[in-house]
Amino acid sequence: MNSISRQITASPIAGALGAEIHGVGPLAQASDETIARIRELWLQHSVVFFRDQPLPPKDFVAFARRFGDVVHYPFLKGLDEAPEVITVAKMEDERVNFGGLWHTDTAYLEQPPMATILVGREVPPYGGDTLFASGYAAYDALSDGMKRLLEPLKAINSSAKAEKTRTREDRKPGEERKVLEAEHPVVRTHPETGRKALYVNGGHTLRLVGMTEDESAGLLAYLFEHQTRPEFTCRFRWQPGSIAFWDNRCALHNPVNDYHGHRRIMHRVTLSGDRPQ
Ligand code: SIN
Repeated sequence: MNSISRQITASPIAGALGAEIHGVGPLAQASDETIARIRELWLQHSVVFFRDQPLPPKDFVAFARRFGDVVHYPFLKGLDEAPEVITVAKMEDERVNFGGLWHTDTAYLEQPPMATILVGREVPPYGGDTLFASGYAAYDALSDGMKRLLEPLKAINSSAKAEKTRTREDRKPGEERKVLEAEHPVVRTHPETGRKALYVNGGHTLRLVGMTEDESAGLLAYLFEHQTRPEFTCRFRWQPGSIAFWDNRCALHNPVNDYHGHRRIMHRVTLSGDRPQ
């Protein structure tokens, strides 16, 4: 173990995925060695968390760029000072939260993002945790027969399915009714770890290719339920300046909507990914 590996450690918060990283110092000044160690731990744990890192928007984007190309979210305007950063917000008078169901981010794109990084700015006094679930654990737990059945299948992922969870009014002009769809394998192989992950999600996956929505519904309903079994999940409690950095290729997430009357404001960037294989 080299000195960086001894200094930067990860404490798992659950069995399947998720770890808090310690010993990194201010992320805005991270060395190349620190970034390489974070990447190693991120690939190992699928989602990693940092505390007390109140990165201002420009530093947030600069930090994200150390891991890949930052991409623009198709449906929301970014911040004026850092257009790559979107605000994920639920105000005191709102009832619906952004992305409030199990999903992987923008699975309806031909090349969905590799990763998402979220920083907590204002968090409610209770609630508003984010749940994560491991696509690896979900795949590994399937029987050999089910793995064989799923292996050749592809699914259609659509932005229309998540329409009801878009709460923000500042959408890009002209984007309101545009529906984006992409066909992806039901089981994908992670391009860096080589592990297989179940890659469907209740937020975006509409139907199996070659089948109708009705014909697909039974199997997809089983997979949506299976992939979020409690033992495949972890739960993150936010504080201002907390960061969650998740791997969209093998982890789902679901922000819990249990803090009506309180405000929750986060900043988010996504990093460019490849076509799922
Ligand atoms: C999202 O990116 O889907 C939102 C996650 C969160 O608000 O915790």
